[in-house]
Amino acid sequence: MRLLVTGGAGFIGSNFVLHVLRERPAWRVWNLDKLTYAGNLENLASARGDPRHQFIKGDICDAAVVERTIADQGIEAVINFAAETHVDRSIADSEVFIRSNVLGAHVLLDVGRRRGVKRHVQVGTDEVYGSLGETGCFTEETPLAPNSPYAAAKAAADLLCRAFARTHGYGAIVTRCSNNYGPFQFPEKMLPLMIANAMHDRQLPVYGDGMNVRDWLHVEDHCAALLLALERGRPGEVYNVGGKNEWRNLDVVKLVLRRLGKPESLIRFVADRPGHDRRYAIDPSKIMAELGWAPRVAFEEGLSRTIAWYRENAAWVANVTSGAYQDYYRAMYQVDEQGRVRR
Ligand code: NAD
Ligand code: DAU
Repeated sequence: MRLLVTGGAGFIGSNFVLHVLRERPAWRVWNLDKLTYAGNLENLASARGDPRHQFIKGDICDAAVVERTIADQGIEAVINFAAETHVDRSIADSEVFIRSNVLGAHVLLDVGRRRGVKRHVQVGTDEVYGSLGETGCFTEETPLAPNSPYAAAKAAADLLCRAFARTHGYGAIVTRCSNNYGPFQFPEKMLPLMIANAMHDRQLPVYGDGMNVRDWLHVEDHCAALLLALERGRPGEVYNVGGKNEWRNLDVVKLVLRRLGKPESLIRFVADRPGHDRRYAIDPSKIMAELGWAPRVAFEEGLSRTIAWYRENAAWVANVTSGAYQDYYRAMYQVDEQGRVRR
């Protein structure tokens, strides 16, 4: 298989590239990534020198680069991870979300279709379904009701995939996964941010009352689901991916503190995220029944491994959080001279 991975220097994309090189030794991977603040070639250090993996720095919105890559390398399949992914940033400024998540996804579909790509996975999110009440789960039939600019842009890409499959018979498949955690996640996201702050005795900013629920899945389980969807998913279909592992944010934060032996007094309740979705929960029965997928990593075990990874990779964290991240963090959480969050 000659596979184009886009966004393969980010959190899930880099885990997926390493997963494919391990699980499918005969495949060749071209990895197209713009290297935004969230992309980091250090994530792929273990693939350095591997002739099966080739990195190309480029933007998925640039049709010429995408066309050249697909045509020159004889690409047979595409999997698109490339996107702006942080909800809070999409609230502050949504333009780049529309560019990368909608226009970029469209360029990939359009060039892929014209150049005879056989299979195309759009890596989507459960956030397109909006928010749940106390009970129930998102199925693939749940109406789309995105609440953040990020989620709305991802929903647009999903609908383009549907249209390309229906209209052109293009082999586009959409997956919709719940919250991932694991190594290489950028520390703007809740779990690595809480781990990094707790490790350094900094305050842990919990939005609102901390009772929002997220359905956590280890990134390795997500990668296994994506590989199955890429190989065996039915074109035009949507597959929900989730581990039936719902946690209230405050309980996750307290668990992180316990694991690190830090006091709960580090928790600070801060202003809520505008439009904050209350609860996500995925019904993964379709991918389990049709493709034989099942999550393998138990949350408490996966969390221990993730905390251990962040402890052992303090240099990685220091590297990605230097420079522009410091400005983002100080503005986002209104940090004062004593390092207290004021937001
Ligand atoms: P990330 O922010 O860690 O990485 C995104 C990557 O895309 C970065 O390497 C970045 O440089 C690259 N990129 C951004 N814009 C680009 C562009 N225009 N052209 C080329 N490259 C570009 O994101 P992630 O958390 O790994 O998420 C990957 C995908 O999975 C996204 O599409 C996201 O919507 C989806 N997803 C994420 C989660 C989650 O919990 N993190 C859950 C479900 C779905
Ligand atoms: O559900 C899948 C989605 O999960 C992906 O599509 C997104 O790309 C990914 O970022 C993630 O979105 P969330 O908004 O759920 O993740 P985040 O880590 O930003 O926040 C998780 C929860 O924690 C959410 O309820 C908001 C809360 N939170 C977050 C941050 C950053 C806090 O309480 N404090 C924080 O500082």
